[in-house]
Amino acid sequence: MATNEELIGREDINDLEAILAVSNTDRDETIHAIADNAEAIFTWDYEKGQRPALNRLYEKAKVSMWNGETDLPWDTDVDQEKVVAENAMASGGFGDDIDVSGTPMEHWDERTWLQFGVESQNWMLSQFMHGEQGALVCTAKIVETVPWIDAKYYASTQVMDEARHVEVFAKYLDTKLSGHYPINVHLRTLLDDIVEDSRWDMTYLGMQIMVEGLALAAFGFMHQMTTEPLLKQLLRYVMSDEARHVAFGVLSLKEYYAELSDAEMLERQQFAFEAAVRMRDRFLQQEVWERMGVDVRTMIKLQLEHGGDKNEDPFQQLLFSKIVPNCKKLGLLDRNAGWLRTKFGEMGVIQFEDWVDTGEEYDALSLDALAAEQAGGAEVA
Ligand SMILES: [Fe+2]
Ligand SMILES: [Fe+2]
Repeated sequence: MATNEELIGREDINDLEAILAVSNTDRDETIHAIADNAEAIFTWDYEKGQRPALNRLYEKAKVSMWNGETDLPWDTDVDQEKVVAENAMASGGFGDDIDVSGTPMEHWDERTWLQFGVESQNWMLSQFMHGEQGALVCTAKIVETVPWIDAKYYASTQVMDEARHVEVFAKYLDTKLSGHYPINVHLRTLLDDIVEDSRWDMTYLGMQIMVEGLALAAFGFMHQMTTEPLLKQLLRYVMSDEARHVAFGVLSLKEYYAELSDAEMLERQQFAFEAAVRMRDRFLQQEVWERMGVDVRTMIKLQLEHGGDKNEDPFQQLLFSKIVPNCKKLGLLDRNAGWLRTKFGEMGVIQFEDWVDTGEEYDALSLDALAAEQAGGAEVA
């Protein structure tokens, strides 16, 4: 069995020095090239609907397209500081969820907390935007590499969805917020690993199951929290697409994984664990601490210790609430004597295993369901 050292470059998941040792050395690059190492696959078997679940998803996607320019209320005035302050109030006030005594934050005044909230939002939405471009590239790769015609068809609709997502996050950052951040190095490393892998199913596992599973949970959390109507609607629209994307991953891999040997499954389990750790690391938002002029080492240490040795930060944990049940549905938790179950236990996220998986959730999150909800709400009002 591979050790943590071999998989993620450190034995202890919470090894502070190892996390900080990875840093972004090329912040000013505008082009980032990575070899995708895969064969482009043609299929001459054009029989549509051989995989009925994927065919249904494709038909659903065709009629669920929206236009990022015209379907969102871009004329909304956004006062970012006011929104940040309101969101902080809604969650109990600045700094109330974490004990800051003895840290650089202890002496922050209201103004500095506000600036921190603004930077955190700029950072978070920048990472979402970069992640969306990762999805765009990965899904274009799936169009090339997956051998099934129904999956090629579906993936092509996802390419369009992801272009729209990059577009709306970029527009929101440019016109409503106050600055971009470059891609976080842990996120970039993960996207590089996913794109570099030659095996077509690994693109799905890394992107549709892990990155998009996390994004769906994070968008849902932010959608619930934010009081800003444009961002709320933007996130809800993106979520309606993301739920289909995660379903695409679950439905495709379920069939493929049923045929894999234990040794092949172990490679997938290890890849899922590695991806989970990288995503956890990226949410430590080290670039924000740098910009705030506080010691990054102190702050990351504080975050890692927050909630005890299992990092029981409720937001951090909730990020895994879609990933874990989907991994379970795919057999990734239990194969090889529960290897991934043990790892997710060590990360403090295994408690989500029986939450709803995302194979079918896309109907509940669709824009039709949203319209019905809103019509129902209007009747009541
Ligand atoms: Fe997306
Ligand atoms: Fe997506």
